[in-house]
Amino acid sequence: MEIKKVMVVGAGTMGSGIAQVCLTAGLNVVICDTFAPQLDRAKAGIEKGLGKLVAKEKMTEAEKAACLTRTSYTTDMADGADADLVIEAVLEKLEAKQDVFRKLSDLVREDAILASNTSTISISSIGSVIKNPERFLGTHFFNPVPVMKLLEIIRGLRTSGETIETIKAFGKKLGKVCIVSKDSAGFIANRIGSPMLNAAANAYDLGIGSREDIDAAMQFGWSHPMGPLALIDLVGVDVQVAVMEVLYAEYGDPYYKPAPILKRMMAAGMLGRKSGKGFYDYTK
Ligand SMILES: NC(=O)c1ccc[n+]([C@@H]2O[C@H](COP(=O)([O-])OP(=O)(O)OC[C@H]3O[C@@H](n4cnc5c(N)ncnc54)[C@H](O)[C@@H]3O)[C@@H](O)[C@H]2O)c1
Repeated sequence: MEIKKVMVVGAGTMGSGIAQVCLTAGLNVVICDTFAPQLDRAKAGIEKGLGKLVAKEKMTEAEKAACLTRTSYTTDMADGADADLVIEAVLEKLEAKQDVFRKLSDLVREDAILASNTSTISISSIGSVIKNPERFLGTHFFNPVPVMKLLEIIRGLRTSGETIETIKAFGKKLGKVCIVSKDSAGFIANRIGSPMLNAAANAYDLGIGSREDIDAAMQFGWSHPMGPLALIDLVGVDVQVAVMEVLYAEYGDPYYKPAPILKRMMAAGMLGRKSGKGFYDYTK
């Protein structure tokens, strides 16, 4: 099946980014959020995002206008019942996601594909409430979606090979590099990347190097676009701790234990860029 119409459920940071890349790939998009003011924010964000592409001459005004006519906004998932693919991007809670999929299971066509943008929750657990689990999988986009090239596809225990192939073709159309991961905590990218950030925080705590030197080590020795401590500040110290807690709970290996300094920073309200202070000071 070729994906032509997509519904995105949850129009926050990730949902609006996913909607934007689907639009620029020529697809029809229904954007659903239960919180109506969020739809206005998503609309403004998408228009701004498309405007930037016009300014950079990556898109014409006419193409932007065509994208906008292919978009609709709603608070009712029934308005996207005829979508070929539904991508859920609501909050990172199993019950909230299962609630969405329980309803979607009754709404969508039998041959529609359902996907979750979860960054940590098991795809097989979310999929347990779905009527056709072979048509369900994880589509883990990275933030900001229009910029980050990776699409991590997660194969649940019951996901069919055909579903994986359809989503690989969809990801390619979006201009993404697609990888496929087993349904295992952290999938591929966070299982490898998050412990590295954690190790950088521990190295800083032990006084192995200054924050600038630790960041420079990975930037200039390993060609990372930004240093790990600066990246924790961008991701959010609380988010990094939450990811490590999921990995530690699943694998029980001390390698995944959240760095104590991150927990102290959380207690002190030093969450990174969003709170103004993290490893670096963003208040000046
Ligand atoms: N933010 C990131 O960097 C990032 C990266 C990768 C994956 N993710 C994952 O993507 C998902 C969404 O994250 P986000 O950062 O965009 O969250 P967000 O808080 O920005 O947006 C979530 C949106 O979902 C809406 N919502 C809640 N319940 C709903 C429902 N039942 N129906 C419709 N809409 C509903 C909320 O009103 C909100 O607008 C999470 O699972 C998260 O783990 C986030």
